Formats: sequence, structure tokens, C-alpha cells
Amino acid sequence: KTVAVLFGGQSSEHEVSCISATTVINNINTGIYNIVIIGITKEGKWLKVNNTEEITSGSWRQNTQTAVILPDASMKCAIILNGEKAESIKIDVVFPVLHGLYGEDGTIQGLLELARIPYVGCGVLASAVSMDKLYTKIVVDALGIRQAKYVAVTKKELSDMAEAVKKVEKELSYPVFIKPSNAGSSRGISKAGAKEELIEGLKLASEHDRKILVEETINGREVECAVLGGNEPKASGVGEIIAAAQFYDYDAKYNNAESKTVLSPELPAGAAETIRDYAIRIFKAVDGHGLSRVDFFVDRNTGEVIFNEINTMPGFTSISMYPMLWEGKGIGKPQLVEKLLQLAFT
Ligand code: DAL
Ligand code: MG
Repeated sequence: KTVAVLFGGQSSEHEVSCISATTVINNINTGIYNIVIIGITKEGKWLKVNNTEEITSGSWRQNTQTAVILPDASMKCAIILNGEKAESIKIDVVFPVLHGLYGEDGTIQGLLELARIPYVGCGVLASAVSMDKLYTKIVVDALGIRQAKYVAVTKKELSDMAEAVKKVEKELSYPVFIKPSNAGSSRGISKAGAKEELIEGLKLASEHDRKILVEETINGREVECAVLGGNEPKASGVGEIIAAAQFYDYDAKYNNAESKTVLSPELPAGAAETIRDYAIRIFKAVDGHGLSRVDFFVDRNTGEVIFNEINTMPGFTSISMYPMLWEGKGIGKPQLVEKLLQLAFT
């Protein structure tokens, strides 16, 4: 069988995807699969990549052979273009190790649906809904699961900044979090303790998306739960993030070795069970398939579990919780990757 691994992508999480893809590729059983590696540059160029060393060094971006997946359902193949020459390689399954826009948001999934090639992870709807934090809010509200209070602001509304600020201040008190509705790895997110910071935060978020979410601050511990499966998804144990910064921002996530992850932390009675139950319910509500990591807060005062967000293609870096949570359940990375590939066919 041949698996095509897609990585990189035109999103602010491009670099994270490069690391995740290296982990995934190194754990694919080469006794079963041939691997075709396709790197997508930030500009959206699709390139043939020869090995994970090229990914680690970054030299893949200088490669000259194009590699694309065709939408033609009768072909189910990747086309490698080498100057004038074209070679086609039959593809049995795709592992899109892409985070964020144009990868985790249903767009790549749409291409693979057209091509009728099985792929790892969530489909178009689950990907699109889960990538859009405002839309996820609507779905999770319908389940009656608690989440942070929020106000939606559009980029257009920022043309009257005073009015936009008023809209937020009417509903929420400081400090608040400002998030682009569509983004990941905390890109474009900031915290505001006063009006001036709110204005800056709204401007920053609007560089990432035309829809902005402003949320109350939850004084909570950050916990995460991994979901794996098809029709009967299973939830892992719970892991906690101890952020080195004020919040688990991009730098704290990937550049600060002080940030820690703890498996099976001590939580208030019943919290872990609630988290696992909510994770499955939310995964099903967004029509999830294959995998997702569902993130929550546990309120430091009340112990209440509060939904934060769902990631349909969670990171596979050395600090990423998704593979760690399954290792905690005795499922190592090679077994996890194989299971995800098998789920693509169901
Ligand atoms: N969005 C990053 C990759 C994560 O959730 O792990
Ligand atoms: Mg995310």
C-alpha cells in the first residue's frame, strides 16, 4: 500500500506541521506502506520531499519536483512532475498532517473526498466546524456543556472601534482573551486587561481572520483529552498543561522548555470522568472521525469542567499531548499511527 503524507501548508502553524509530520512518518510501518511525502510551502506550492532529513533541515523547500494529488476520482494518484516528465503513483490512503487553515479546516479534506482517496482524520464538516471557534461554540452550546462566555466581533465592526469595544465591555469584564475564530497553536491570540489592550488585541486577531472571538478569562487549569476511533470513539486519560507563560501561547508551547505536561493529574472528584464523557460527546456532535484532541479548563475555584476547544489534527511534536495521552494508555506511536491509517478505511 502507498500512503501519501501531506505536511507544511499555508497556515500560521506551518512549522508545527513540519515537526508533527516527521513524527508521523518515522512511525509508519515501512513493512506495510510505501511513503510518498508531499510538502506544501507557505505560499501553497506542492513539492515532492524525499525523506524526513529534508524536513528537519528545511531544505525540502528548495526541491524542484512538484507532487500533487489529483481530484480525478478515476485516478486516485499523486502526479510527480520532474521538468517535462510526469510520473503517476497510485495512492491508497492520505495522512494530512496539516494544522490550521487550508489543512485542518475541511479544504484538503474536500479535495480528498473528490479524489475518493481514504484519508486519516475528520471529514469536511467536522474539520470546518472545529477549526472555527465561533461555530464550535454554537455546537457545544447546543449540548449544554459549559464554555467561556463570549462575544463575536467581525473585522468590519472594527472600523468603528469605539462601538466594537462597547459591544465587548457590555458583556464581559476584563481580563478577556481575544482570538481569531480560525487559527491554531494560539496564533493571533492575546489577553487584554484594559481597553487599550483590547483594541490592540482586536487588531492583531483581525490579521488572522475576519471573525474574532472575545472570551471571558477562566481561572482554570488547562487539561486535554484525546479521542480515537470511528463509530465508537474512545477517550484517553486526561493530561494537564502547566504553561510557563501567562497563558499557553505559541512561544510557551513550542519554544519554552519550562512549559510542562502532566499525565493523569490530581483533579477534583469526578472531573476526569466528566472530561472524557464531554470529549466523546463533543467529538460526536461535530461529526468527528479518526482523531481529535479536546481541550478543557477545570475551574480553580469550583472544580467545574469548561470546554475550551477541539483540534481535529492535534500536534504530534515531542511536547504534544495527543500521542502522549495514548502512550499513557499503552498505545505507542507506531501502533497509534497504524490505527489512524486503518481508521481511514472505515
Ligand atoms: N493546533 C496544534 C497543532 C495542537 O492543537 O496541537
Ligand atoms: Mg487549536
